[in-house]
Amino acid sequence: MAKHVVAAVADFPPGTRRLVEAEERKITVFNVRGEFFALNDRCPHEGGSLCAGKLTGLVIAKEPGAYEWTRDGEIIRCPWHGWEFDVRTGRSQCDPQKMRVRLYDVHVEHGGELAEELVAETFPVTVENDYVVLEI
Ligand code: FES
Repeated sequence: MAKHVVAAVADFPPGTRRLVEAEERKITVFNVRGEFFALNDRCPHEGGSLCAGKLTGLVIAKEPGAYEWTRDGEIIRCPWHGWEFDVRTGRSQCDPQKMRVRLYDVHVEHGGELAEELVAETFPVTVENDYVVLEI
């Protein structure tokens, strides 16, 4: 699996998201109170961009009239028709067993370790009679 650096943690504050293009896919990475989650950006309904959606939460009721706001910032609402998905699992709120958005692995790595792995590919270059030649 190829690694793609999204951002420095310091530049990616809680409550924000980033749209990343990697391996010809659009993926939205969310920072939910310091935890990172990555979802396919394409809504499974008709392809809306989840990155453009509103982050919201859930209202639960343990008994009639006793409402509680919970999971603030963990539910993404598609901007097209309002389908909602759990950012932690990718599952739809209306049909969690059948409908979901693909999740991708995302984690934090220390810069020093990352620098050892992410080395640019190099190619030999020579100069022959005033021509610069790139060998691939
Ligand atoms: S495209 Fe997302 S809800 Fe319709």
